[in-house]
Amino acid sequence: MAEKKDKIITYQIPSFFPKMDIPADNIPSEARMELGKKLFYDVQLSKNQTHHCGSCHVVSAAFTDGQRVSVIQENSVNRNAPTLVNLAWSPYLMAEGGVPNLELQALAPIHESHEFNLSMQELILRLQENEEYQLLSQRAYQRPIDAFVITRALACFQRSFISGDSKFDRVYYLKQGNFSASEQRGFDLFFSEQTQCSSCHALPFFTSYEFASLGLTDGDEGLKRKTYLEEDAGKFKTPTLRNIEITGPYMHNGSFGSLVEVIEFYNAGGGPGRYKSNKIIPMSLTEQEKQDLVAFLKTLTDWNFVQNAKLVRSE
Ligand code: HEC
Ligand code: HEC
Repeated sequence: MAEKKDKIITYQIPSFFPKMDIPADNIPSEARMELGKKLFYDVQLSKNQTHHCGSCHVVSAAFTDGQRVSVIQENSVNRNAPTLVNLAWSPYLMAEGGVPNLELQALAPIHESHEFNLSMQELILRLQENEEYQLLSQRAYQRPIDAFVITRALACFQRSFISGDSKFDRVYYLKQGNFSASEQRGFDLFFSEQTQCSSCHALPFFTSYEFASLGLTDGDEGLKRKTYLEEDAGKFKTPTLRNIEITGPYMHNGSFGSLVEVIEFYNAGGGPGRYKSNKIIPMSLTEQEKQDLVAFLKTLTDWNFVQNAKLVRSE
């Protein structure tokens, strides 16, 4: 087979997003991207060859899966599959922030017994037998396929999940078009002292990445799993709200089926949990205001991103 040379590429980043930090050993290239995508959609990553990353992270749902909690072979993981957009800017990953970057994150689902349940060693042996992987690995990282290559290629592909082309972005940042009257009222409420939504769901990613408890009580200790501090029980990383219309069910445990339910929950002052944030208090929103907030949240959907054929599994 003829030597095919690799080519460096650049991620397409909206002008109003901050600069992206990319690890020096994982500058994106065509071959790295191709390899990462191939791995993301390869069932060989799961023990019984039934699932791939894209089974739980579906592009058309902004890389979520529509399930309350993710299910794989009648085992359910206890958490709702989060969106994977704009993770290049996330200072840590997972609901309790236990994983520092995308390169290391890929190890979690592979080993996790409720997910792929395969050891990295077994996976490497599987992929080494595949000539196409060996060629791609050499082309992308100039070495045989191993844990270094697998984790980097997956991270390289996932850094390209950049979503910043919603109606909100066009109206707010690019000054193109207008909100409807209801969307505008929802925008004003979202950024108001009354709701404080934007103090946690901050621009431009609609998250400050801070940990907070909304008072949900389901036994999931959240941040306490990492810090072992009692006051961190029930605290979770503030999630992005980009594409929120299509990423339900909501919350780490998928306990709310619709945005209306989420707004009702906030309006009632959240749940009974002990370490609830002092920003989560009853709001007495009118029916119209609740609808306006939902209308605003629906402007955060980036239809071009979720319909991007380049991200979908290639046959
Ligand atoms: C069985 C369904 C399932 C599969 C398969 C799966 N994931 Fe996930 N993924 C989840 C769930 C659930 C979480 C949330 C875990 C948590 O916070 O504890 C998650 C979290 C993540 C996160 C962290 C996101 C964030 O905001 O912190 C990344 C990145 C990710 N997955 C990528 C992958 C990759 C890459 C693969 C394939 C190697 C994969 N996932 C396979 C269900 C799945
Ligand atoms: C104190 C910080 C804080 C404030 C204020 C706040 N949120 Fe949240 N929000 C969070 C956290 C943390 C979560 C995730 C909780 C979990 O997973 O259990 C969340 C989750 C959500 C979700 C579900 C996201 C998903 O992907 O499942 C929506 C929607 C949401 N918030 C909207 C709002 C709106 C609208 C407001 C204002 C009325 C608001 N939030 C105010 C911190 C906050």
